[in-house]
Amino acid sequence: MPMADTPLLRIEHLSKRYGGNSIFAGVTLTLMPGECLALLGESGVGKSTLLNCIAGLDDATAGEVWLAQQHVGALDEAQRAALRRQHLGFVFQAFHVLPHLTVRDNVSLPFRLLGQPFHTEVDAVLRDVGLAPQAAFMPAQLSGGQLQRVAIARALVHRPQLILADEPTGNLDPDTAERVLDLLLSRVRQQGAGCLIVTHSRAAARRADRVLRLTARGILPETTPAEPSGA
Ligand SMILES: Nc1ncnc2c1ncn2[C@@H]1O[C@H](COP(=O)(O)OP(=O)(O)OP(=O)(O)O)[C@@H](O)[C@H]1O
Ligand SMILES: [Mg+2]
Repeated sequence: MPMADTPLLRIEHLSKRYGGNSIFAGVTLTLMPGECLALLGESGVGKSTLLNCIAGLDDATAGEVWLAQQHVGALDEAQRAALRRQHLGFVFQAFHVLPHLTVRDNVSLPFRLLGQPFHTEVDAVLRDVGLAPQAAFMPAQLSGGQLQRVAIARALVHRPQLILADEPTGNLDPDTAERVLDLLLSRVRQQGAGCLIVTHSRAAARRADRVLRLTARGILPETTPAEPSGA
């Protein structure tokens, strides 16, 4: 269990440029155990890029990311991979479900990579996301929303300290989206994990502890009241 008064994630003055183009600058953020943040922002502002920089899958141009008390920018590739395996669950916007593995084997991957046994947890999380009947299916046999739930199950199964989720309910109907959010939030509340959810869903944002907006000049608190409809 993480220490309650130590941030899971600390971002200081982070900026990202691609060549001459500034994507974002001045991003500063702290995420504590047990906290769920929703991150809004218009398309192209750099939300996925920011998540990639947090996970050490991309390098920021300036600034620092501290994840589980480690300075991500100071780690080499092998150390970053180890940090991700041990502490992070990542729901990619494009899912990145491996096409040659069954649903169950995709969801088992975090345990395989950690060299740990996994049977009961994998089946439990498949049930939680409503995919128990599809456990032996190949990804090509799934719908978009089912693939998204494989990605979510894989990100949660090993109970990581920090969950980064890039529009995790974008392909789901409102009831399934609600169920997936329940699952994410119960992990955060029960385990003292943290989560950062990129979302365009007002319903998802309403359930977060804080709602923030990524802009080209940094992260701002979201002040617009959430609409009652338009999940
Ligand atoms: N490898 C790259 N080279 C150059 N520009 C890139 C690269 N990757 C991303 N970008 C640019 O960075 C910007 C931010 O992209 P990103 O995917 O992070 O946006 P986003 O906020 O996640 O958008 P969306 O809501 O549509 O998913 C975009 O303008 C994109 O064109
Ligand atoms: Mg994106």
